[in-house]
Amino acid sequence: MTTPRPETVAKLTPVLTKRWLSPDAWRIGTYEQLDGYAALRKALKAHPDDLIQLIKDSGLRGRGGAGFPTGLKWGFIPQGDGKPHYLVVNADEGEPGTCKDLPLMTHDPHALVEGVIIASYAIRAARAYIYIRGEAVHAARRLRNAVQEAYDKGYLGRNILRSGYDLELVVHSGAGAYICGEETALLDSLEGFRGQPRLRPPFPATHGLYASPTVVNNVGTIASVPPIVLGGADWWKSMGTEKSSGPMIYSLSGRIANPGQYECSMGVTLRELLELAGGMQPGHNLRFWTPGGSSTPLLAAEHLDVPLDFEGVAAAGSILGTTATQIFSDQDCPVYATYRWLEFYHHESCGKCTPCREGNYWMVRVYRRILAGQGTHEDLDTLLDTCDNILGRSFCGLGDGATSSVTSSLKYFKQDYLDYIEGRTAPKLSEKTLVGAH
Ligand SMILES: Cc1cc2nc3c(=O)[nH]c(=O)nc-3n(C[C@H](O)[C@H](O)[C@H](O)COP(=O)(O)O)c2cc1C
Ligand code: SF4
Repeated sequence: MTTPRPETVAKLTPVLTKRWLSPDAWRIGTYEQLDGYAALRKALKAHPDDLIQLIKDSGLRGRGGAGFPTGLKWGFIPQGDGKPHYLVVNADEGEPGTCKDLPLMTHDPHALVEGVIIASYAIRAARAYIYIRGEAVHAARRLRNAVQEAYDKGYLGRNILRSGYDLELVVHSGAGAYICGEETALLDSLEGFRGQPRLRPPFPATHGLYASPTVVNNVGTIASVPPIVLGGADWWKSMGTEKSSGPMIYSLSGRIANPGQYECSMGVTLRELLELAGGMQPGHNLRFWTPGGSSTPLLAAEHLDVPLDFEGVAAAGSILGTTATQIFSDQDCPVYATYRWLEFYHHESCGKCTPCREGNYWMVRVYRRILAGQGTHEDLDTLLDTCDNILGRSFCGLGDGATSSVTSSLKYFKQDYLDYIEGRTAPKLSEKTLVGAH
């Protein structure tokens, strides 16, 4: 294990993670001692429009994957329309490799609760929901306790801190489907329907929950709001890069010495993150990695110095996504890794549209054939052709995301595929997996 140099340690910018190691960080007493609910007091004295402007000025972009400017999204909510407005927090966190929202809600749930109150006040919502994935029982328990503590202290409910503002906050557990992280499927699920994406337009900003104006934001986005209110837009922008401001929680997993969450200014590189994480595990050399979860095209060892912000990763041909960096070594097989991800997408496809439902079904079968040593050279063309018919033709981003590792692994690691097809690599799957595969 390597020890990081002081200049690399200085890359850490704990803002959202700053309380995580405090004893009982999840309790309201600890939270209040460490700046907690000070931003709310400040925000309630401001005009809601000024808060929206502050978030616009900070350049905060959504932490859920797409990086949409948060202030702009809040500004889309029509005001004076006489309809109820809703804030819905997307705490589904289902992207393979992604592990930033659940630790945040487990260690520092009040950061999210406080962010919810401020954001709801800004968009004039009287009711907010946190939609958390069903399996995350521990995080949901912490969150529900935090919500109750906030009610008891007068931070939620009627006439919050005697400001005249009312807000009810509901924590809703989903049943654990990746598609329910897609914002419109989430809204359907929250309304009690089967979670499947809705046709857009109309967008949630005007026709969201119960056909009313709704903001859907990621946990990390909303938890960033209290520090911005306290520190100001310029302080926030002093971290990160020009178009990707602020700190970001990078979740590192795989063949590294110390997996975990590392919060750094946006634009940090994988080389620096690896140093912070103690380097690769002994005997392993970096071969490929995802910059932002399994839906983002793979990058290779040559991309160690790519700035991990929205623009830098896009310029390298991938997507920043959820900053879930999954690290694979020379002892891992990109063909097999891609197959396992495809199994996931095939399983999680909601079945609403043909390209994703059928395409993933067939691609899984082609991969099984290749990995069982029975693939052909034509199979590689079939994979690319299938991806061509899924990408941009699917109803939602799940289908698009499924193609990422297929096309990128074929781009960087075609030889690995050929080695299976031409018999140089021993089959990884038995012929039994081929039942119905042809
Ligand atoms: C298949 C799929 C799964 C998604 N899962 C999540 C998720 O678990 N959490 C999340 O915040 N966003 C997820 N998203 C993105 C959301 O649709 C939406 O863009 C996001 O919640 C907006 O929040 P933000 O602007 O704060 O990033 C997913 C998108 C797709 C297509
Ligand atoms: S792309 Fe997949 S998950 Fe999305 S609507 Fe189509 S079938 Fe459902």
